[in-house]
Parts: sequence; structure tokens; C-alpha cells
Amino acid sequence: MDHADHVRLLRDGIEGAGPVWADLGAGSGAFTLALADLLGPKGEIYAIDRDGSRLRDNARAMASRFPSVRVHYQEADFRRPVTLPPLDGVLMANALHFQSAQEELVQCLRGYLRPGGRFLIVEYDIDRENYAVPHPVPYSAWQSIARHSGFEHTALLATRPSRFLRSIYSAVSW
Ligand SMILES: C[S@@+](CC[C@H](N)C(=O)[O-])C[C@H]1O[C@@H](n2cnc3c(N)ncnc32)[C@H](O)[C@@H]1O
Repeated sequence: MDHADHVRLLRDGIEGAGPVWADLGAGSGAFTLALADLLGPKGEIYAIDRDGSRLRDNARAMASRFPSVRVHYQEADFRRPVTLPPLDGVLMANALHFQSAQEELVQCLRGYLRPGGRFLIVEYDIDRENYAVPHPVPYSAWQSIARHSGFEHTALLATRPSRFLRSIYSAVSW
């Protein structure tokens, strides 16, 4: 997948949303860049990851590709409380599958959203765990997690074939 694929996965979930987003488990920035591309210069992104070296790569890539988009980096564990303003959106790309208590976590993360805010998820659409995806979140599982976490609506946004694991999907809940 390349930047165009990342943008395609997020596009319909960002359209019409406000400018303040968090990218949880932002890593080296594949989806932070896509988010920045879609939000444009009015965007403000809080990129959180517990791996400081990936965040530094992320900051370098953002500075060279989207210097006009403000990004705040926080090296932190998103399972613990973090200081954030009310968010228009939360993006979690390929990070929920590392967590075992997914529903409890998403319930807490929902608390960072302003009323009407959106939660965007990108995950592999697989049922069986493997070394890289210890707690898979296929779309059917996300629908249930989102509902039990208090989101009234969930929509599938896009899917892309994955060379690594069958297929990757994006979905939005609000
Ligand atoms: C597979 S990478 C995905 C990175 C990026 N979102 C992407 O899709 O390219 C997962 C990232 O989530 C981060 N991560 C996993 N659990 C985390 C936690 N509890 N708190 C903060 N970051 C976490 C990892 O450090 C890693 O950078």
C-alpha cells in the first residue's frame, strides 16, 4: 500500500469532519500523513505512540511532506489518560489489534471525542490471530465493539487488498 491507498482508506471518514484529530498508535506516520493530506493546513493532529523512535520518524516525514499541518507528538501509552482537547475525530490504524481489552479501551477513548465526533478504525479483516496481529478486529467485531462502546452508527468506508494479510478495511463510528 502507498500514500494514495492510505488516503483512499480515510477519505470518506474525514469528509465534513472538524479539523482536530488524534492518531493513536501513530507509529512512523503512514496514516498521519494521509490524515494531514485530507485535513489540509487547518488540520491539527495529536499523534500518540509509546515508541518514541517511530514518532521521531513520523515528525521527520510530516515536516518534509506536510509542514503546514500542526502536529503535537506525545510519547505515551494510550491505555492511560492523556491530555487532549475535545476532538473532532480519533483515528486508530492497525493499533487496536495489539490490545486485549478492546471494548473497555474504545469506551475510554470515546470520551476524548466532542459530541458528534468520529472514531475511524483501520484494521485487518481477519479472524485468526498471528504473531503480528495478536487480537484481530475483523469488521464484524468492530461493529460489535463500537455498538457496545456507545457509538450509535458504524459504516464501512473502504477495503484494500493486503499483500500481508488478506484485506484491510476502514470504518467510521459516530
Ligand atoms: C502496526 S503499528 C501501526 C502504525 C500506524 N498507525 C500505521 O498504521 O502505519 C502499531 C503502533 O501502535 C503503537 N502502540 C501499540 N500499542 C500502543 C499503546 N498501548 N500505546 C501507544 N502506542 C501503542 C506501536 O508502538 C506501533 O507504533
